[in-house]
Amino acid sequence: MQIAPEQAGFLTLLARIAGARYAVEVGTFTGLSSIAIARGMGPQGRLVCCDLSEDFTAMARRYWARAGLSEQIELRLGPAADTLRAMPDEEHIDLAFIDADKTGYTTYWNELVPRMRPGGLILVDNVLWHGRVLHPVSEDDHAIVAFNEQVLADPRVDALMIPIGDGLTVARRK
Ligand SMILES: C[S@@+](CC[C@H](N)C(=O)[O-])C[C@H]1O[C@@H](n2cnc3c(N)ncnc32)[C@H](O)[C@@H]1O
Repeated sequence: MQIAPEQAGFLTLLARIAGARYAVEVGTFTGLSSIAIARGMGPQGRLVCCDLSEDFTAMARRYWARAGLSEQIELRLGPAADTLRAMPDEEHIDLAFIDADKTGYTTYWNELVPRMRPGGLILVDNVLWHGRVLHPVSEDDHAIVAFNEQVLADPRVDALMIPIGDGLTVARRK
């Protein structure tokens, strides 16, 4: 389920270019994308990771320790929608990465956009969904199609879908 290696490099580069200091990840799994983002932010950066699974994230914790990133990354276990809603209602996030359950993408987007600093980046994985966006069948397929249409129509961001890995949307809060 982890992001592709070239996406990891791209996340690191984007976090560095953006000068991000405070980031939020939705969907952490075993830790690859979180390590990529935290590395890009450097030692001053702080990353909050949202995930449901104690088992997957136990592995992530071990990799964070091996990467020397344990102090920079905070894990919040539970449904990501609840974790995001509990965050301050102010523009404080420099970079966010969405890569969890596909039917939750719209909720995560709606919670994150108002909390992004102007100029902040929201990155979203799997927006091409292995090509299934062209012929949606399942609930997840339709969720990704609806999400992509929502992003396209959202006047609060400039956004572009980049065909790297399974498709990565890069959106900048205006
Ligand atoms: C595709 S994996 C994330 C991969 C990760 N970004 C990486 O590159 O290694 C999706 C993750 O989302 C988590 N997840 C699924 N539904 C969730 C929810 N409602 N709230 C929080 N996390 C959820 C799963 O436990 C899983 O670890």
